[in-house]
Amino acid sequence: TTPTTNNIKWHNTTVSQDDRWKIGGHRGAVIWLTGLSGSGKSSVANAVESILSHKYKIRTYLLDGDNIRHGLCQDLGFSENDRTENVRRVGQVSKLMADSGVVTLAALVSPYRSDRDNVRKSVEGEHKHENNDVTSSGDNNNNNNNNNNSIPFIEIYVNASLQTCEGRDPKGLYKLAREGKIKNFTGIDDPYEEPTSPELILDSNTKSIEELAEETCSYILDKIKL
Ligand code: PPS
Repeated sequence: TTPTTNNIKWHNTTVSQDDRWKIGGHRGAVIWLTGLSGSGKSSVANAVESILSHKYKIRTYLLDGDNIRHGLCQDLGFSENDRTENVRRVGQVSKLMADSGVVTLAALVSPYRSDRDNVRKSVEGEHKHENNDVTSSGDNNNNNNNNNNSIPFIEIYVNASLQTCEGRDPKGLYKLAREGKIKNFTGIDDPYEEPTSPELILDSNTKSIEELAEETCSYILDKIKL
């Protein structure tokens, strides 16, 4: 479909991101967990969300690939284009939620580096609308008066080898993929592009979910201070 944004103008809101973040007492952020199926993305994300919300009273939300595919992305499969669209949609939702003040965790395989990089660009993009040119139009700036209003994007590579993931095979999907009953399965007959410069790499081969969650929380807590 053709983008129809050319004739649509960005409206600034009366309540600013800064206002919303101050009311919440912390910044919004996008915490993006990428890795093979079975690497532990969901488990780490759940443990992190639990610590942040229960211990630190941070406002959080978890967008989990499997769950999102039941609703927002129920029309998408696992072709390259569909995965790209899946990542784009969840990226945009994450950005909106972070703008509202929520520390948003997204746990998606998100196998393509360029898709993840596009989400990063959009999230970190100085809180301006991507389709407008800020250099020629002053009214795209949000009404925050500090220069620190970009939404933190924290890419986390949940690193477990294919051997580890296949050994765990929590949903029996690797077995089906090996038998040829599922096509285009990430790591088997579909690519996974490792992040080149993620904010965090979690060693899920050897460390426990609790250890990985603590490591992740201490990193996040520092980034969401106002
Ligand atoms: S993606 O690539 O980011 O769009 O994938 P995602 O939305 O995270 O969905 C991955 C979960 O769907 C199950 N599943 C598959 N994964 C990879 N490849 C194929 N072909 C596939 N088919 C189904 C699988 O359970 C993934 O869940 P996790 O939690 O990652 O194990």
